[in-house]
Amino acid sequence: MTLPAAHPLPADALAAFPRSFVWGVATSSYQIEGAAQADGRGESVWDRFCRQPGAIADGSSGDVACDHYQRWPEDLDLVAWLGVDAYRFSMSWPRVQPLGHGAWNDKGLDFYERLVDGLLARGVRPYLTLNHWDLPQALQERGGWAHRDTVHRFVDYASGVAARLGDRLAAITTHNEPWVMAHLGHETGVFAPGVRDRRTAMQVAHHLLLSHGLAVQALRTAAPRSKLGIVLNLSPIMPASASPEDLAAATLEDGRLVRWYMDPLFKGEYPADVLQHLGADAPEVQPGDMAAIAAPTDFLGINYYTRGVVSASGAWDVKSTGNPVTDMGWEVYPQGLTDLLLRVHRDWKVPSLYVMENGAAFPDTVQQGAVHDGERTEYIARHVAAVADAIRLGVPMAGYMVWSLLDNFEWASGYAKRFGIVHVDYPTQRRTPKASAFWYREFLRQQLSPRTAGAPARAQAATA
Ligand code: FCB
Repeated sequence: MTLPAAHPLPADALAAFPRSFVWGVATSSYQIEGAAQADGRGESVWDRFCRQPGAIADGSSGDVACDHYQRWPEDLDLVAWLGVDAYRFSMSWPRVQPLGHGAWNDKGLDFYERLVDGLLARGVRPYLTLNHWDLPQALQERGGWAHRDTVHRFVDYASGVAARLGDRLAAITTHNEPWVMAHLGHETGVFAPGVRDRRTAMQVAHHLLLSHGLAVQALRTAAPRSKLGIVLNLSPIMPASASPEDLAAATLEDGRLVRWYMDPLFKGEYPADVLQHLGADAPEVQPGDMAAIAAPTDFLGINYYTRGVVSASGAWDVKSTGNPVTDMGWEVYPQGLTDLLLRVHRDWKVPSLYVMENGAAFPDTVQQGAVHDGERTEYIARHVAAVADAIRLGVPMAGYMVWSLLDNFEWASGYAKRFGIVHVDYPTQRRTPKASAFWYREFLRQQLSPRTAGAPARAQAATA
C-alpha cells in the first residue's frame, strides 16, 4: 500500500480504521450557497451582520459566496470524485422557512431535495446540519436565541425538514458549535448577531442546548432512520505554566468551552464551578430543561483545529512553540486531537464520535492550473493519524470529515482565508482541486479498496 510520496501515513494508522468508518468532507450553507435573495429566501442574521461596517475583514458577505446554489451539480461531482462516503452540509433555515415560523418556502426545500437526491445518486451519504449559524433575521428581531420561544421554533423547523427529507438523511446534526453562536455571537460580538453581553450569551447557550434536546426527541419520530447528534467545537485546554493562577484560568476556560456543553448533554447538569463563576449571569433554567438536554443521541461530532493554552495574565504566544501555524494563526497540534478524543471517551463515555470538521487555512495560489498546498495535506494526514491513535487506544470513532470541500466565506475573515481542498477563483467561480484533494482521494482509494473489492456499488451504503 503506497500513498503519494509526500505525507504518507504509517501502515498501522491505516489499519486502525474500522470498515464502517465514514470518511467525508464538510461545508455550510451561508459559507458556500450565495443566492441570498433567490427564490424567496429570507434574510439571515449573517446577511444583516455582514452589512455592519467593520464586521467582516474584507467588507464582504455571503451574497454570492461559491454560488453553490446554482453550481451544486458540479460540486457534488467533486464530492463523488473524491470518493468520500459522506457529505456534511447545512440547511439555511431562512431559505426553507423565511421568517423562521409559519410558511415554508417550497423552492428552498426543493433545492435541498435536489441536493440530497443528487448525493444519493452519486453514492454519497447526506449528513445534514440544521443550524450552522444562519438564523432567520425575523427571529432575531423577536429576541433570537436569547428568547425561549426560538427553542420551539427550532423544533418545528427540525420536524418540518424531517417530514420532507427525513427518509433520505443518513444523519442529522441539530447545531454546529453552540459555543461559537453563544460566545462569539453574543459575548464578544465578533460573529452574528454581534451582541456583547455575557448574561445573554449564557442564556443563548442554554436555549441552543435545550432546542437540541427537544429537537432530538421530535426527530426520533419524524426521522426514525437518521442518526442524530450535535457538533461541538472542543479543544484540549492547557495552562501556560504550572502556576496556580494559570491552572485556575485553564480550568475555567475548559469549563466554559468543553464542560459547559459536555456535562449537560451527557450528564444532565451544568458544571458547578462555571455556574459559580457566572453568578448572576448564569442562565435561567426551567424544570425539565436539563433532562430534555440530555436526550440520548447516536453520535457526538467534534470540530478540532488546534489546542488552547491559557494563562491568567495574557495571550498565549502560539509561535513560541516552534510548531507550524496556519493562516488563521492557529498552532498545528495534532496530538491535541488524540488527547481530546481520549478525554471525551473517558469522562463522558460517548458511544460514537466523529471528527466533523478538521482542516487548515493557507494562502493558496493557482500556478499553471495546480495548487501545491503541501502544508494542508500534511495537516490533514497528521490529524488522520491522530484519529488512528485514538482508535488504537479504544475510542469509538465513527468518522472523519475534512473542512472544507471548497474555499468559502470564512465568516468575519471574509474570503481571505482559504480552507478548501478545492480552490475557488471567486471572479470566475472556477473550481481547482488542490494537491490536498488529490492526496485525500488517493488515501481514500487505498483505505476503502479492501472494503469495496468484490462488493456491490458503494451506493448501497448511501441508504444504510
Ligand atoms: C468552524 C466552523 C466552520 C469554519 C471553520 C474554519 O468553527 O464551524 O464553519 O468556519 O471553523
